[in-house]
Amino acid sequence: MLYVLKFIHIFALVFGAGSGITNGILASRIIRNPNPGPPPEMVVALMKTMGKIGPIAMILLWLSGLGLVFVEYGTLDIGLLFYLKLAGATLALVTVLYIARMAMQAEAAGVPPDLKKIKRLSHVVWLGVITAVTFAIVMFN
Ligand code: HEM
Repeated sequence: MLYVLKFIHIFALVFGAGSGITNGILASRIIRNPNPGPPPEMVVALMKTMGKIGPIAMILLWLSGLGLVFVEYGTLDIGLLFYLKLAGATLALVTVLYIARMAMQAEAAGVPPDLKKIKRLSHVVWLGVITAVTFAIVMFN
């Protein structure tokens, strides 16, 4: 069970990071496009898919992370470094869900999402992820 949970934890991180990097690069290219206009349909479809993978990966990180804690320690009370990791993970989760909500609202209204705002918020997600990874490495090495 422990290995399955670790596998899910690391793979969720890989998929979440991959989707975030992909959408970050595409958003930068669209924002900096010298000939503004709607991006090609294939790019929009790719961004929507990546935009779904990100929140799913983040939720899997949380579910597998909670599973790991309970299998390994049986309690969430495992020290300050872990709480710092959880602070980063919480920041990342809340921001990813907020971005997903923004994207869904834009889609429902039939307008393009505010890519500049999403790009700024994605930096907050990275801050949370980097914090969570850093304290995970320090704590669980
Ligand atoms: C953005 C969210 C998260 C990221 C990026 C993340 C990242 C990581 C990484 C990279 C490791 C491997 C560290 C190592 O073995 O040196 C790890 C391990 C671990 N994580 Fe997370 N994590 C996140 C969320 C969570 C959450 C929400 C929990 C619990 C509620 C959690 C619990 C754990 C536990 C218990 C381990 C140790 C597994 C072991 O024994 O090797 N993680 N995490």
